[in-house]
Amino acid sequence: MSKLTCSMDRLGNSKKEVIKIEVNKIINAECKEYMKTLPNECVDLVIFDPPYFEIVDSDWDNQWQDKAEYIEFIKECILEGKRILKPTGTMYLWGAIGVNKGFALLDIVKWIHENKVLDIVNWITQRNTRIRATYKGFPQAREELIMCVKDRNKFIWNPAYTEIKNTRKDLQCNGKPRKNEFKRATDVWCDLAEASQSSKERFYYKNGERFKTVKSLKICDRIINASSNERDIVFIGFTGSGSEIVSCIKNNRNYLATEKSKRTIDEIIKPRIVEVLHE
Ligand SMILES: C[S@@+](CC[C@H](N)C(=O)[O-])C[C@H]1O[C@@H](n2cnc3c(N)ncnc32)[C@H](O)[C@@H]1O
Repeated sequence: MSKLTCSMDRLGNSKKEVIKIEVNKIINAECKEYMKTLPNECVDLVIFDPPYFEIVDSDWDNQWQDKAEYIEFIKECILEGKRILKPTGTMYLWGAIGVNKGFALLDIVKWIHENKVLDIVNWITQRNTRIRATYKGFPQAREELIMCVKDRNKFIWNPAYTEIKNTRKDLQCNGKPRKNEFKRATDVWCDLAEASQSSKERFYYKNGERFKTVKSLKICDRIINASSNERDIVFIGFTGSGSEIVSCIKNNRNYLATEKSKRTIDEIIKPRIVEVLHE
């Protein structure tokens, strides 16, 4: 696994200090506790794909007594994530609306907004290919992605495009000719499939058990390319199968990643990193 030390100039109260952070490593640690070891404003992008709270049939999604305890945990992660984020940085928070679980994400988004924790730029809805059809009503196929920034006037932004050709020949709404070959990605993502059961992006533990909540590489690429530049540092709080790490490597970003499960690191993440580094 390649390791690199990134130095950055930081203006302290009286003197300029250089902080060195070893990047491109996966840390077997609790996300929030690890972030506490990092200095202020040291990463360009924070991606949280945390447990959803009693939605996935895995131990890691069922570790809280109740919704209030879960929300408290997510809020603490967001505050630490905000502290380590540079002024030009962006934080993405994945979450399920979880109709049957009391809309925890709504409470979290309301808290971010009302307390001006961060500035919410987009509420993105991703259409998943995996649907939850275990109850009466329309099967749930959506997953939410909250994009927030520290400063709306200076956050890093590289417009994202879909792979769908722009066939319209009329003028744009600003009266200028359409110059993009492909359609811009909006805040509703129907063009990118989640890495579901039907996808090729499946990852298994040694005993044959499948890791259930893989984000597809295309989804990770969209987030990472839109909200960071080459050689930037991306903090990945809940690494899971490691899709965000693979996207960082492919897109020439540095990463720092935490994952609580050593088994997932050893059996899924590390082999994926080795594979992508040898491609
Ligand atoms: C939703 S999955 C992440 C999926 C990932 N984006 C992917 O594409 O594979 C959440 C992951 O967070 C890990 N996790 C749960 N609680 C954690 C914590 N407090 N700190 C670090 N990792 C944690 C779980 O073990 C699980 O692998």
